[in-house]
Amino acid sequence: MGQALNWLLGLSPETGKAALDAIMVLRAATDSETVKAGNQQLIVAMADAVMDKRLHPAADVTSWLIEPPAGLNDAEATYQLAMLYATGSQPTWNLIANMLRLMLTDDGFGGRLLYGALSVTDAIDEVLFTDPPLATMFPRFPQQMQILDTTMLPPHQPVLISVSGCNTDPAVHSDDHFGNRSHLAWGVGIHACPARSVATVIATKSLALLLDALTEIQLAVADGTGLEWLPGPFHRALKSLPVTFSPCSPLELPLA
Ligand code: HEM
Repeated sequence: MGQALNWLLGLSPETGKAALDAIMVLRAATDSETVKAGNQQLIVAMADAVMDKRLHPAADVTSWLIEPPAGLNDAEATYQLAMLYATGSQPTWNLIANMLRLMLTDDGFGGRLLYGALSVTDAIDEVLFTDPPLATMFPRFPQQMQILDTTMLPPHQPVLISVSGCNTDPAVHSDDHFGNRSHLAWGVGIHACPARSVATVIATKSLALLLDALTEIQLAVADGTGLEWLPGPFHRALKSLPVTFSPCSPLELPLA
């Protein structure tokens, strides 16, 4: 999955590794100093990528950011790229991990997926309903006072919208999601995720390959109750997902 994102953005293996290290710092951060340090690490990595593409442009997102018609300067391209890497990496990993967790902890779901009664695409939508990787939208700021039911939203104050809460609202919720894509996991409106098709392809392919390669994969902790989630309101992210599997031959690269 990391390689797919690096390829899309045009990051060299070294820059991809530096960006990944920065995201790992941000992922584990519980204080503002560590967040600042992680952000700075990411900015340095992305500045390297922009310099590299000024010298060696190619068919990738970084080159398109700096070439006309976008024509961003170095600082603009660096920050856009950092935003794209941060926004693109974590939710996609978490979608894959959350789906694997559901598969390994819910026999009915896992069985239907393994024996083909549920396609990987439908399984992904099930996880986007029940465990959306971006569990809370980025803050919104009402431009004027608004009344929502019995709640007053003051102007210019942040409003956090829980995607998980919307998806599981008992007023509209049903346990049968088969073929139902009415979840809000990709956001809505003009700021909805522009990369949902890319992210779906990456997650589908990653899971299909993983299930092909590691047919014996099993959870290494009893029934998933000991699994821990990372703190924070935005990402629905497992701290780790311990599994066991039988040895298998490495997959041949490049993959078809
Ligand atoms: C499973 C993977 C992903 C999920 C669940 C996801 C989800 C979302 C959601 C919910 C939003 C809207 C946030 C809001 O309105 O507050 C969003 C926006 C965005 N996403 Fe994704 N995303 C994923 C993958 C990606 C990838 C791979 C990229 C790019 C490489 C990406 C780029 C963006 C960008 C640039 C925005 C901001 C759009 C705007 O503000 O106009 N996302 N994403």
